[in-house]
Amino acid sequence: MKRKLIGPFSQLLPLSHLPLKGSLKDEDIKIITDGGIIVNEARIERVGKFKDLNDGTIPLERVNQPTVAIPGLIDAHTHICYAGSRAQDYALRNSGKTYLEIAKSGGGIWDTVTKTRNASIEHLEDLIIARGKKMLLQGITTLEVKSGYGLSVPEELKMLKAIKAVAPKLKQNLVTTCLAAHMLPKDYKGNGYEYLDEIATHLLPTLQVENLAQRVDAFVEESAFSPEEITPYLKKAKALGFDITVHADQFTTGGSKVGVALGAISIDHLEASTQKEIEHIAKSNTVAVALPGASLGLGCKFTPARKLLDAGAVLAIASDYNPGSAPMGNLMVQASILGTFEKLSNAEILAALTYRAAAALNLKFYGSLAVGYYADLALYPTDDYREITYQQGQMLPHGIIKHGEKIVF
Ligand code: NIG
Ligand code: FE
Repeated sequence: MKRKLIGPFSQLLPLSHLPLKGSLKDEDIKIITDGGIIVNEARIERVGKFKDLNDGTIPLERVNQPTVAIPGLIDAHTHICYAGSRAQDYALRNSGKTYLEIAKSGGGIWDTVTKTRNASIEHLEDLIIARGKKMLLQGITTLEVKSGYGLSVPEELKMLKAIKAVAPKLKQNLVTTCLAAHMLPKDYKGNGYEYLDEIATHLLPTLQVENLAQRVDAFVEESAFSPEEITPYLKKAKALGFDITVHADQFTTGGSKVGVALGAISIDHLEASTQKEIEHIAKSNTVAVALPGASLGLGCKFTPARKLLDAGAVLAIASDYNPGSAPMGNLMVQASILGTFEKLSNAEILAALTYRAAAALNLKFYGSLAVGYYADLALYPTDDYREITYQQGQMLPHGIIKHGEKIVF
């Protein structure tokens, strides 16, 4: 069926008239009561009152009552391609060891690298599919997935091929990011510059040719790469045509400055950013991505989301779903909790999970319900959109619409 009218929605929040940058109030949200959308194939043709759109000729697709409809959630930062557990690290952290201490003593990212290298590509595919399905049930209709637990040319290729192979099997559209610069692999015989040069020369061009990644990410941190080491690498990635993004200011500052200077699309983490970094970020168009799941997993402070918004930054929120720092993988729980600690309005939280997250991925036509945009919606069993964050992620959607196709859970 090509064209159809979907609805009626108790409340429809298109979020399409809100600004990209800065703070938002709930009064800024335009709510269409008894709303509907006309979809034509995968895209939105019209948005409005159900009764105004229902001209008697267009086929109807009714939804359960009540339903609040918002743009499908976009998780702009995940590491869901991994094997094994890091329950041991979690227990060690809770007994007093720090993330960096555990990383130095053989746990941390390297532990997952070993387990992921030992996994077959088929096993990795099954793991991504299982995690992707779990995230679909949370209303996540677009998903970023990183490599970064291979850390050699063949092992990074294995991860990125696994992600590409699962894409047709998941309902979400995937955005794939190469994170070969996650840390200097412990078995690499050379320094950081040499490793990054090898990746830039022997991996990144292949990713372009085989369309295995759209973005290149790097972890700038004491336990990973310095701003000096990462700058030439990210410049090469950019010259090859990749969007760049940085894991920045997680424990120590430095990464956000490099990210902004190189025109990164997003800089993610920022828990350690001070007012100086916050103002610098806010002046740029680089999206600041808060990762409250990592704060909850590590027991560390949250990204200064309130200060970033007040300074005028673009703020997105993502799950960072990974086996080490953020094993929970529940975006709305994390975003709601960040909201209570950082005093974020519903408008700021929902924007951060939808159109501002689309900006973090440089995705056009995703993240709001405007004419011409993809018809991706999350449908919640309530007639008051504020219940979504109020229930702190415990109220799950009862369905989604993905590229115009209604899927009821
Ligand atoms: O985003 N910060 C670095 N990378 C991940 C953690 C990965 C891991 O510990 O396995 C993060 O938190
Ligand atoms: Fe991460």
